[in-house]
Amino acid sequence: MSKKVLITGGTGYIASHTCVALIEQGVTPILVDDLSNSSKLVLSRIQELTGVLPVFYQGSILDKVLLAKIFAEHPEIEAVMHFAGLKAVGESVEKPLAYYQCNVAGTLNLVEAMQAAGVKQLIFSSSATVYGDPASVPIEESFPTSATNPYGWSKWMVERCLMDFQAAQPDWSITLLRYFNPVGNHPSGRLGEDPQGIPNNLVPYIAQVAIGRREQLSVFGSDYNTPDGTGVRDYIHVVDLAQGHLAALTYASPKAGCHIYNLGTGQGYSVLEMIQAFEKASGRAVPYVLAPRRPGDIAECWATPEKAKRELHWQATRTLDEMARDTWTWQENNPMGYEPQ
Ligand code: UFG
Repeated sequence: MSKKVLITGGTGYIASHTCVALIEQGVTPILVDDLSNSSKLVLSRIQELTGVLPVFYQGSILDKVLLAKIFAEHPEIEAVMHFAGLKAVGESVEKPLAYYQCNVAGTLNLVEAMQAAGVKQLIFSSSATVYGDPASVPIEESFPTSATNPYGWSKWMVERCLMDFQAAQPDWSITLLRYFNPVGNHPSGRLGEDPQGIPNNLVPYIAQVAIGRREQLSVFGSDYNTPDGTGVRDYIHVVDLAQGHLAALTYASPKAGCHIYNLGTGQGYSVLEMIQAFEKASGRAVPYVLAPRRPGDIAECWATPEKAKRELHWQATRTLDEMARDTWTWQENNPMGYEPQ
């Protein structure tokens, strides 16, 4: 029988791509999501791409009864990939309690439910945000951690809770995956990122400008100490990121301990380079204006991905052009996201 893995936040952007990668390797994902920031249509899209309609529970990780029910109905679940969480930096400043409730309390509920069910392998979606404003780049896993906003602190706190818990329960395996900047979509154009309202992140914003949903991009800051003055980030194709989860499940999860990995490419690109790549992929102009820095932003953030390469036998292979091409395929085929066109 194939390995079963519970996926929280299962219909979300990164989780849905990971589900496809898991199914392709014969792993059975069981999804739970409250659909607060994703669409149920993702399920039929996963079925289209893989031939498998995943088992789905609609509900929140704050619902302890639901979590207990899922583990009771699927006693073969061996591991949990925990993607569910709130992720908008600005919103977290406005609504810190919602962020601590969902991200921190939600994770504690999940771990308690796992403990009750005897499931001892957890892979957690952390973020490069836990490095705060790093003293230098590239960023190694051993760098000090901190945060600059409630979203960042919530990820930081969950990491802290999980490390302490694993120290008290040495037979558990906890893997903290620190994502850099996930972008791109499934190359079929059938799965993608579908932000509600005005996108916070650069690539979905560029895509909406190129398709004509928004007039122009504001480039936040052109006076950073970087080659062209704009912010530099480690953008990673979401399909590479999905493969990284599979690698973590294969190589880290079976080993007791607390494992921490950067998932990035090791290569930084500036905002202007991203615009250029997108103009090339779409054949459309992306009008932009130079605007003041966004509060809380840092100049440069990119990873050393060497540890993941060494221990997880994984590395990102998809290029910037592929990230731009696949983002555009999704945007062109789904100009209004998942909702009926
Ligand atoms: N940017 C613009 N214009 C925009 C949006 C972004 O110029 O409209 C710039 C930003 O200033 C930054 C770069 O594009 O230089 C990337 O910005 P994103 O918002 O796409 O990504 P961030 O690096 O700010 O944030 C990401 C995740 C966060 C996480 C953070 C640190 O979205 O969840 O990395 O790890 F906290």
